[in-house]
Amino acid sequence: MLAIIGGTGLTKLPGLSITHRQVIRTPYGEPSGPLTFGDLDGHPVVFLARHGYGHTIPPHLVNYRANIWALHAQKVSHVVSVATVGGIHGDLAPGCLAVPDQIIDYTHGRETTFADYGDKPVTHLDFTWPYCPEMRQRCITGLEKAGEGFMDGGVYASVQGPRLETKAEIDRLARDGADMVGMTGMPEAYLAREIGLCYAAVAVSVNWAAGRGDSAEEISPEVIESTLNDVMGRLHGVLKNLACMSYGDEALPGNGGVCSA
Ligand code: HPA
Repeated sequence: MLAIIGGTGLTKLPGLSITHRQVIRTPYGEPSGPLTFGDLDGHPVVFLARHGYGHTIPPHLVNYRANIWALHAQKVSHVVSVATVGGIHGDLAPGCLAVPDQIIDYTHGRETTFADYGDKPVTHLDFTWPYCPEMRQRCITGLEKAGEGFMDGGVYASVQGPRLETKAEIDRLARDGADMVGMTGMPEAYLAREIGLCYAAVAVSVNWAAGRGDSAEEISPEVIESTLNDVMGRLHGVLKNLACMSYGDEALPGNGGVCSA
């Protein structure tokens, strides 16, 4: 089954007809909220608002382990993260979309592994390509079918937040090769890899990163707000396309793996 993790601007999934909500207890504490089960255009999905349904959990306090563990425990196989970012690359103006294929992790002090307690042997998992290629391809297909232009690939810089960056920090990220900057990509992507979920992200540029474009002097909350309103409507079609793909759970009611669009 497919899970959708919604970030800033996506605390509710428009068009989701909800069947039930479930509070999941995990060995790692509380997820960001109950998992919301439902149908998107007749196809089952699970939805989780990363920052809580009231958008009250800042990026550095999200319980990424509990979130990923809860999805895994509910037999989720694939995850798409909708991730708002600031655009660093010239093609990532506000309103533009990307399916990143690389990550640089600048976060600190977050719980980064499931394997750090008990007598578990130390593991060093491969993370050369941090996103699941199969889920990336599904995102690409979903975007193409929705007629959306997007950047195929790109380096996502995961920063600590919750503050936005200085211009010098963005200049450094650009020198490091980052194309976009967000606050929640890590450790989420790695935890998904560790637990065996096929995970990819659709990044949504909601502002030029600090010092770039119309953020040369400051990042305007109004720009972020209005871009979010515009883009989230467009994303609905993309998510519907993703939901109607087959995830190996055709026995579930409502999912014949057939897209109505
Ligand atoms: N920086 C970090 N995270 C973000 C930004 C940004 O400019 N925009 C949206 N998420």
